[in-house]
Amino acid sequence: MSDRLTIFDTTLRDGEQCPGASMDPREKMEVARQLACLNVDVIEAGFPVISDGDFASVEQIATEVKGPIIAGLARCIKKDIEAAGAAVKPAAERGRIHVFLATSKIHREHKLKKAHDEIVRLAVESVTYAKSFVQDVEFSPEDASRTEPEFLAEVTQAVIAAGATTVNIPDTVGFAVPQTYADMIRYLFDNVNNIDDAVISVHCHNDLGLAVANSLAAVQAGARQIEGTINGIGERAGNAALEEVIMAIKTRSDIFVDVHTDIDVSEIVKTSRLVSRMCSLQVQRNKAIVGENAFAHGAGIHQDGIIKKRETYEIMDPKEIGWGETELPLTKHSGRHAVALRLQALSYTLTDAEIDDIFSRFKDIGDRKKFVYDDDLAALVDDSLTTVKESYSLEYLHVSSGTTAIPTATVQLKRGEETLEDSSPGNGAVDASMKAIDRILKKRGHLVEYNVSATSGGKDALGEVSLKVDFGDGNLISGKGASTDVIEASARAYLNAVNRVSALEEQSGGIDKSAAAAEGTI
Ligand code: KIV
Ligand code: ZN
Repeated sequence: MSDRLTIFDTTLRDGEQCPGASMDPREKMEVARQLACLNVDVIEAGFPVISDGDFASVEQIATEVKGPIIAGLARCIKKDIEAAGAAVKPAAERGRIHVFLATSKIHREHKLKKAHDEIVRLAVESVTYAKSFVQDVEFSPEDASRTEPEFLAEVTQAVIAAGATTVNIPDTVGFAVPQTYADMIRYLFDNVNNIDDAVISVHCHNDLGLAVANSLAAVQAGARQIEGTINGIGERAGNAALEEVIMAIKTRSDIFVDVHTDIDVSEIVKTSRLVSRMCSLQVQRNKAIVGENAFAHGAGIHQDGIIKKRETYEIMDPKEIGWGETELPLTKHSGRHAVALRLQALSYTLTDAEIDDIFSRFKDIGDRKKFVYDDDLAALVDDSLTTVKESYSLEYLHVSSGTTAIPTATVQLKRGEETLEDSSPGNGAVDASMKAIDRILKKRGHLVEYNVSATSGGKDALGEVSLKVDFGDGNLISGKGASTDVIEASARAYLNAVNRVSALEEQSGGIDKSAAAAEGTI
């Protein structure tokens, strides 16, 4: 009998904590729906106490996403646990509260300034309190991998006795190596009397590039829940990439004989692309499983082998995980119904009005390019549908540039009924467009990151721009835009960042995320 591993996805919580990866509520919903299609077991939807926006997002996911368990994170603080309990309530018996408290010496002495017994008491009280809201309570001793094993065992035993149904052993700073991490898990199995009453989980960060290896070693040592994110996004070097963990377990079922996952692997590529798009973080080309080059064979000798028998150079079938699933492209002659069906196949849940909106932009693009591919359509959805309030919209853009002329842009924006216009020279057409927007807004944005990619092949491909801008307070605000014209796509992306920062300014009053996460407890 092989055990089913619980796949716990924290893309929307730990993944989103990564600088510049923040998603708006609509983007979070799209990701959550796709995670349900992937058939993950648990979606950690956010940290509800952090802000009204986070709370609302967890609550909406708990209300609308059926299938997986929906978890909300909480420190060992009453108001955190209450917020998490209220946010996951709509998921009823699928609601989980995940409480955490640091246990390592360095955190105890320098961050928390608490002694052993106080940590145990707080952990037990918090699990007990969380149990008054939900049956399913997970406890994480933060920085577990740097905690003394005896103390870790004591805390684990105490929280299980208090009712924790899962105990997660985080390698918070990515310090572990496979052997030490597996030894630690084994130590717990040997020294915690009630360990069979809970699922032991692992949560690895990738600071030494070992997150996936550590997670797999822990499974061999008895862990039965793996936490990670899609594309491995997350704080610093990220979290364990779930697609890698899942495919390693499946592909090497000869080694992982005792375990399996129930993931629908044919959804992996689609999920990876959606997450990359939604949080504006490009997947590195040579990334295992989901990078563009993951199944590209350059060497002639390999190509020859693949043609004769795929398995000569491929250990996984790319089609099985969703590569090369492109349908016949749409053209300008395709009707609204065909576009709506493709959008549905791409897992977008849209209202009629939203489909109308996408369809009118599709027609416009269809006039400019021969074929509209799935990725073009996804870029349009992204560009058109954002829950970020559009304080400013692009009315008009004119750029003059050339090898001898000084690039100059004139931009017209609309704010409510008002039309605003200005021009600026710049160091290139993109720079000039952004400077013209800055002049209108009387803001100065510093472009920290700029990526342009073609959604499909061909000279008429849709250019998709994602960028990150610092408007002077050190926070990275992301923006996205798409058009067959990359200058227009850039201006749209910049404006999207402007609208995001305006929305954040309006919404201020939430707790600073990183500060609260670092605080751990009070
Ligand atoms: O890395 C970590 O320790 C965490 C915990 C909150 C589980 O993300
Ligand atoms: Zn983490």
